[in-house]
Parts: sequence; C-alpha cells; structure tokens
Amino acid sequence: MSIANAKEVMIEAAKKGYAVGAFNITDLLQFEAVIDAAIETKSPVMVQTSVKPSQFLGRDIMVAIYRTLAEKAPVPVVLHLDHCTEIDYCKKCADAGYTNIMIDASKQAFEENIRQTKEVVDYCHSVGNISVEGELGTVGGVEDQIKVAEDEAQLANPEQSVEFVERTGVDIFAPAIGTAHGVYKTKNPKIDFERMATIHKMLNGGGIKTPLVVHGGTGLPEDYIKKLLAAGGAKFNVSTELKHTLIDAKYEYISAHRDEYDPGKIDKVVREATKKAVIHWMGMLESVGKA
Ligand code: 13P
Repeated sequence: MSIANAKEVMIEAAKKGYAVGAFNITDLLQFEAVIDAAIETKSPVMVQTSVKPSQFLGRDIMVAIYRTLAEKAPVPVVLHLDHCTEIDYCKKCADAGYTNIMIDASKQAFEENIRQTKEVVDYCHSVGNISVEGELGTVGGVEDQIKVAEDEAQLANPEQSVEFVERTGVDIFAPAIGTAHGVYKTKNPKIDFERMATIHKMLNGGGIKTPLVVHGGTGLPEDYIKKLLAAGGAKFNVSTELKHTLIDAKYEYISAHRDEYDPGKIDKVVREATKKAVIHWMGMLESVGKA
C-alpha cells in the first residue's frame, strides 16, 4: 500500500538531495501515466488536481482512482489538491481522502493568508495524516481559476516566510521566487535562487522541518532546476507541459489517422507520451531509484 502524504516524501527527498515531481492531471489516462512512470523509475510521486478538474470529475472519483492505483503501486504516491482558494473545498477534499491540500490564500493580505491557512492546517491535522501546503508571495502566470498579472507577482520575504510557517503550522511551503505558471515568455526567466536558499536555510538549517515547493515547473531550463534543487526545492510542480503533451499527442495522432475511429489507439499514444514526459522530469529531479 503506497498511500503517502507530501510531507513524508518531501522530508526524505530534502534530506537526500533530490526532489519529488508533482504532476497536475485532468483525466484517468494522465493519472495512470504518471503512476506508471513512477513505478518504472522507482520514484516517489505526487499526482495533483487543480480545483476545476476535481469538481468536474468529482473529488470522490479522483480519490477512488487514486486509491485503486496507489494501493498496488510499489512506490509512494501522494494525491494533492492544488491552489485551492476556498477553505470549505479544502476541507471537503481532506474528508474525501486527498493526502495533501494546498490552501492558496497568497492573494490575501499577510494576516488573512495566515488566518485562512491555519484554519485549513488545523482541520487537516485533526482529520488524519493529511499535510498542508501554503504559499507566500504570488507566483506569476495562470493556474486553473487563479490568474496573476506578471507585474503583480511579488516574491516571498524570508523573515515573513518564517513567521508564516511558524504561525500557520504548514507542513510544506511554497515561497514565490520568480517562477511562473504557464509557458515562460523568455528563455532565461528571472528566478531568485538566493532567496530560495535563504528561506530554506532559515526554515530547515537545523534539520528538515518544512520542505520547500517550486511552482511553475514547465519550461524551467535544466540548469535552473539543478540550482533550485541545491537551494532546497523538494517538490516541483508541472502542469502546463502535461496539458500540451496530451493535446499535441491527440492532435498529431488524429491528424495522421483521420479515417480511423479507434479511441483506444489515441489513448495509448497519450498515455505513452505523458509517461515519457514524466520520466524525463524524474531524471532531472534525481528521484529515479529513490523509492
Ligand atoms: P506549470 O503549469 O508552469 O508547470 O506550473 C504548475 C504549477 O505550479 C502548479 O501548481
């Protein structure tokens, strides 16, 4: 049985200097492909759903798929709710069986972010072995229902990060350091590696307690990924890349086989393409063979 929460797998990763890939999925094929990739590479893994897909398919269905696939996987698998801005929906997903919940109150003022995050932390910890991710500062770009203008993006302040973690009790922490959701508009995005390393040192210098999350994985150059790993990144979120992979794979297959009506063949192509993309990430994150 490989049901796991994010804090457990990330503490292990941070101690050993690798990171866990966290992949946003919208359907069963992607769900299977991500877990297949984890099994094939012997990597711990996190499957994430944004709020919209979890509402569209239904959180109970997501959890049922998760349990069915994770329980027979010989590697740890986390089910994470990504960027949820509604406290009630966070609680519903915790009740349903998600093992990690992200309350994203990062658009609120500092005190209100603390209040909302703490409410979700207290609830999740009372329900069971459910860890919680909080965010400070704003990650640029677009993810699910949350849109943040580039010029609105603010980076996390290190002292406030420590205060936020202490007062909320979050298990894992996502500081805004300049990464963005979606496709980067430049080849060399401006990422504040030093800020990440400082926050990591302040929180985890005396031993890993609150591992750090990197949002906006899609399009990050590999040398940036390595620098972020060294600076304490223990979870890397990847969403847009898998959406592109799914749509491109379907489009290419259908365009080349316009007279064929066999959904199973399209599904196979999507599943293989997704698995390949995830395996590539696991190599970059150095999680291969760690589970
Ligand atoms: P990308 O869509 O840029 O990969 O970002 C994913 C993410 O951070 C989800 O929380």
